[in-house]
Amino acid sequence: MTVSYHREGVVGVITIDNPPVNATSQAVRAGLMDAVGALSGDPDATAGVILCTGRTWIAGADISEFGKPPARPHLPDVIAAIEACAKPVVAALHGTALGGGLEVALGAHARIAAPGTRFGLPEVTLGLLPGAGGTQRLPRLIGLSAALDIITSARRIGADEALELGLVDHVAEGDPTAAAMEFAREIAGRAPRRTADRPPPRPDPALTDRMRAEFAKTAPGEIAQARAIDAVVEGLSVPFDQGIAQEREKFIELMASPQRAALIHAFFAERAVAHLPEFDDVAPRPVERIGVIGGGTMGAGIAASALLAGLDVTLVERDAEAAGKAASGVAKILDSSVTRGKLSADRRGAMLGDAFRAVCDDDALAQADLIIEAVFERIEVKDEVFARLDRVAKRGAVLATNTSYLDVNRIAGATRRPQDVIGLHFFSPAHVMRLLEVVPADQTAPDVVATGFALAKRLRKIAVRAGVCDGFIGNRILSHYRAAADAMVLDGASPCQIDRALTDFGFAMGPYAVSDLAGLDIGYLTRQRKAATRDPRDRVPVFADRLYELGRLGRKTGRGYYLYDEDSPKGRPDPDLAGLLQQVRAELGISPRLFDDDEIVARYMAAMVNEGARVVGDGIAARPLDVDVVLLNGYGFPRWRGGPMHWADARGLAAVVADIERFAAQDDHFWHVAPLLRELASKNRRFADLNQGKPS
Ligand code: 3HC
Ligand code: NAI
Repeated sequence: MTVSYHREGVVGVITIDNPPVNATSQAVRAGLMDAVGALSGDPDATAGVILCTGRTWIAGADISEFGKPPARPHLPDVIAAIEACAKPVVAALHGTALGGGLEVALGAHARIAAPGTRFGLPEVTLGLLPGAGGTQRLPRLIGLSAALDIITSARRIGADEALELGLVDHVAEGDPTAAAMEFAREIAGRAPRRTADRPPPRPDPALTDRMRAEFAKTAPGEIAQARAIDAVVEGLSVPFDQGIAQEREKFIELMASPQRAALIHAFFAERAVAHLPEFDDVAPRPVERIGVIGGGTMGAGIAASALLAGLDVTLVERDAEAAGKAASGVAKILDSSVTRGKLSADRRGAMLGDAFRAVCDDDALAQADLIIEAVFERIEVKDEVFARLDRVAKRGAVLATNTSYLDVNRIAGATRRPQDVIGLHFFSPAHVMRLLEVVPADQTAPDVVATGFALAKRLRKIAVRAGVCDGFIGNRILSHYRAAADAMVLDGASPCQIDRALTDFGFAMGPYAVSDLAGLDIGYLTRQRKAATRDPRDRVPVFADRLYELGRLGRKTGRGYYLYDEDSPKGRPDPDLAGLLQQVRAELGISPRLFDDDEIVARYMAAMVNEGARVVGDGIAARPLDVDVVLLNGYGFPRWRGGPMHWADARGLAAVVADIERFAAQDDHFWHVAPLLRELASKNRRFADLNQGKPS
């Protein structure tokens, strides 16, 4: 039974049992409705308790039902029935009380929580607003400002904060169910205190206007936050039932929006990437001690990420001075976690004192379960490091490379144990970015791949399996759309205009602002490395080369595509840039033409989708959804557009093909339709069809 009812003394107990997370599926809603009816009709019950079995209280509405016709009873009606019950009902909370789950708890007349319980309304991250009374009951219970914060930020709060805010009545010291039962017995027979009967807080236009302006700036294009604020504000000046009806209207409107579809695609895609049937029965190798070789930008970030996850870390650098520098880099990252209140000073001390050492002696890696190399991106350096590792690493240790582009098979060949070698491609900053590309080489053992996925989980990252090729999934696609942008710059668009068109589209940053941040030397040196093997028909980004040659390396030199100074640390347009561009175009004999923002976006996206289709067609990514997850979590793709492949489905694959053919009329070397894209478009199919039928 998904929901059952039984009585213990005077307390009617309603138990929800719907693994894995007790989501309010139709069966749960119907079961709850019946159980509330049973409680009301039970002559021997004078109070009720609702509790959940398993690891959590209700984690929200059942997301897999979204987009399908809603089935009765609807959650707001179920919650209304709980609240209307003439006997006081206590919610016994544990695990996570999220979304519709928290809304069910708000409908109860009292809330008792286990100490570790987390609370939140994550609906806006799914393109929705709390649609089962959350926008009406929460402000009544905890006040306007706190409620708006929880609703629009989607942040999760702990039991102590919930108690302080008045969201829960008690935090249980022992067993929360026993505490809820005791509390129910205490209030049995009394009149229930309904949240709906409380007066709404007073409107605060200054606060809500400020919040609206903030969202328009930080989340341009996203609609859910603004609608959520509307629902709360409108509810302050109308009777409760009318507020609920208005909330429902907005919820239904958002449910039908493409943003909701995109965000839910992202939610499930991020879970589906970890489900690879070939590894279902493969146990990962145990990993407690990590070795990191190279403590520069990436090595220090990886080491910090591992320490923060409770692992033991030994970092090896070239000499004592470099080791000292790496250790300060790691300490700096942990310090910033302390400053942001994410880590206690004591734990930081313990991590750096007991769990971390930076040395310049390979032998220190002898006990490491997994060693990750983050040295310079040069194949001869990597070969040398792996040959050394072969000598010092213990048997069965996983040997990983963080290379961005180099051939993992070649690196595995530098050892006598290629079965233990794998690519683990982190993104910068490694302690922040959630993406990890797991790149098995030809001979990598299955349990080594499983270990890569298990490590990602331990580091709270999202792992995506990628095949061996130049740039794996993400950087290979990036090279392609970046080339499309560079071609537009040579042909007449300005870097500023391209960045603006793309941030208007929703990207966190445009490609040229990103270049300035990363440093123009990275791209330049990669081009130099590849120059000998470059197809003569490829267009060289001469303008990017020119900036490098002028010493304009981006933020670190104060000039790149933008100008950086004290007044504008984040950069401003550089008046000299147009002249430089004109000069380069004149040298190349190019007469510039105008690009409008739509064309910029169309070219950028067509290049991204086309290469994404090739990456799937070549088996480098398992499914289109894997491409989406990579671009969403490693490349600042707007989450509310679901990723490039989801975006292409929404636009229509035939339209994307037509765009590419139009662009090919001017440059048929760069632009030709990927076979998989052409095939799907000709059959009127979508990328999403390739996501289905696979485990998700
Ligand atoms: N509906 C359906 N399935 C869900 C679900 C939900 N709300 N939440 C989680 N699941 C599924 C996952 O897809 C996953 O399935 P799988 O094992 O087949 O891949 C399984 O439950 C376990 O989920 P996680 O891997 O995410 O488990 P974790 O332990 O890491 O996290 C969690 C648990 C914190 C509950 C996390 O799953 C989560 O954040 N879930 C989403 C919560 C949410 O957004 N709720 C709001 C829904 S919207 C709503 O309630 C509308 C209302 O206002 C009307
Ligand atoms: P970096 O130049 O900041 O750091 C490299 C470090 O390796 C230096 O501290 C250097 O002293 C050390 N080193 C070099 N040879 C060594 C050796 N033989 N033994 C021990 N230490 C040695 O480089 P960065 O940016 O950290 O890159 C490292 C690797 O990570 C490269 O393969 C790069 O392609 C990859 N990568 C870089 C990303 C980035 O954004 N910087 C993103 C993802 C991957």
